[in-house]
Amino acid sequence: MAHYQGLIHRYHDRLPVTVSTPIISLNEGNTPLIELVNLPKQLGYDGRILAKFEGLNPTGSFKDRGMTMAVTKAVEAGSRAIICASTGNTSASAAAYAARAGMTCFVLIPEGKIALGKLAQAMMHGSVVIQIEGNFDDGMRLVQEIASEMPVALVNSVNPYRLQGQKTIAFEVIDALGDAPDYHVLPVGNAGNISAHWMGYSESVCQQTKACGLCNGQCPYHGAASATHRPVMLGYQAAGSAPFMRGGPVANPDTIATAIRIGNPMSWNLAWAAVKESGGWFDECTDAEILAAQKLLAQSEGIFCEPSSATSLAGLIKDLARGKIKPGGTIVATLTGHGLKDPDTAIAQSEAPYKVSADRTAIGALIQRYL
Ligand code: F0G
Repeated sequence: MAHYQGLIHRYHDRLPVTVSTPIISLNEGNTPLIELVNLPKQLGYDGRILAKFEGLNPTGSFKDRGMTMAVTKAVEAGSRAIICASTGNTSASAAAYAARAGMTCFVLIPEGKIALGKLAQAMMHGSVVIQIEGNFDDGMRLVQEIASEMPVALVNSVNPYRLQGQKTIAFEVIDALGDAPDYHVLPVGNAGNISAHWMGYSESVCQQTKACGLCNGQCPYHGAASATHRPVMLGYQAAGSAPFMRGGPVANPDTIATAIRIGNPMSWNLAWAAVKESGGWFDECTDAEILAAQKLLAQSEGIFCEPSSATSLAGLIKDLARGKIKPGGTIVATLTGHGLKDPDTAIAQSEAPYKVSADRTAIGALIQRYL
């Protein structure tokens, strides 16, 4: 198999690039679609549940899919600097891709409300880290103003190239399953990702399916990511930051899932369109439900995602229990970021380690209790 060189290379025929576009890539994408082997039974579901583990992207989140496109296009346009507001992952990704491209990167982050790993990444990759006394929504407003007045390219998901890159997750799911799943569940913050998923699925529906049954090799997408249908999209928010459930912006969003601590999502209309056109819905989960789902996934399946990502599973658990999901189907859950991003939250909700002397008998006695 050829050396994988990132998602622009892989899906170049479905992205806004040409042969002369200078691709800035860290070989992002191509993340594993992991079959959950224990949870479906535990949750009483007779179908399949698969996790698309985006935490295994180069900077540990799905943001790399959009960032490879946004930075590539910024370089192509001659930009020397990029800027973003972020709850953490976008800044980590922007910082890394800017380093790769030799650009200056400015990131605005909410003071004290960003997970430790993400802050470390933005700092380590040499971006100019600006902590603001405000939240993500304040930062978003500021970077839009600054980018319209100064020579810096905005790489938040209001930049259309971000969603172009992020839509490739749908292509990969279809390539792995041979078709779209029945349901796709994911967390919603600024709402770019659910919009990008829907764009990717929509572009993959084989135009000739109706005419030829299996498209017969004639459709433009034959051979890569061709689907017969689109999934039902379910978007889950944290209860303290759930503007889609409230019907409008939330002034002071709050949640332990800091990545989705957002009150005024930029892709409001696109996200609503995704949910409505797919026959899906939004719902909300409490912080306790989110943390419980994070732990359940870590301890039942060996997959460690960050709290925001576990909102996918937290919401799904509720919808399965309520009987809102049809039996016997295939469900894909996007796990947006790696659990190592936020070690503080993981440690705070876990049992403290034992402290024992370095003594064979003492340790043996402790182990015996578990056997
Ligand atoms: N999960 C994680 C881990 C995220 O970092 C984000 C967004 C989301 C889910 C929500 O995705 O915004 O497209 O609806 N993080 C952004 C950031 C806001 O700045 O890193 P969305």
